[in-house]
Amino acid sequence: MQRISLAVANWKMNGTLAEAKRWAEDFAPVAPALEGVETVVCAPALHLPLLHASLPESVRLGAEDVSAYTNGAHTGDVSAAMLADAGVDWVIVGHSERRAEAGDTDERVLEKARRASEAGLSTILCVGETLEERRAGSTESVLERQLVSVLSGLKPGELAALAYEPVWAIGTGEAASPETAQAVARHLRGLVARHWGEERAARLPVLYGGSVNEKNAAQFFACPDIDGALVGGASLDPERFGHIAKALKARH
Ligand code: PGA
Repeated sequence: MQRISLAVANWKMNGTLAEAKRWAEDFAPVAPALEGVETVVCAPALHLPLLHASLPESVRLGAEDVSAYTNGAHTGDVSAAMLADAGVDWVIVGHSERRAEAGDTDERVLEKARRASEAGLSTILCVGETLEERRAGSTESVLERQLVSVLSGLKPGELAALAYEPVWAIGTGEAASPETAQAVARHLRGLVARHWGEERAARLPVLYGGSVNEKNAAQFFACPDIDGALVGGASLDPERFGHIAKALKARH
């Protein structure tokens, strides 16, 4: 396998500091069994320093978002350099909740990816269509727009992973079928190949996200173009997230 396997937790706006610490302690016994799987915990910015101190060393720290700006008068923003300084390795950009709730446009997502890259962070770009877009038959054009507007502004080394997250599957308990996820993952890889060449496309990890849990995860990991998962709700429980990461390891 020439691509890395990625199990990414996305806690979203959940948990106290005490709960974050307990999660890290409870996950520690699982971590040694996950060798070969890049395991990442993306948490609220406020929790990151505590997690940096309490997560097992083999578990990487991620941020759920990053500022589009380098520094200065941007009240409420957290810069890529601040994240790196706090021990963060990974960052999510373009999550549909940021697009819908914080007004992140494709242009702003590109700027965020650029700031992340400048600070040496590994970027996961999320793309995904809404139910209305899927019903209107515009899934492919929406995904292409979201992906190409970022790809065309970055160098091939500036993106670490892609995540296909259909908006209708996020937090709904209605995951996409593995067939749908695989078809989209292959399509996305084809678009990457068109822009950055076959070799880069063959090495770029593509994740699926949207109601992944310990019961359905293995089906996604059996798909040839799916290299891992971005896990929201099920990642709040270290045991459930551990099962998902172990299912990813089992595919090796
Ligand atoms: P979910 O969220 O697993 O709760 O559906 C996934 C995500 O938004 O990253």
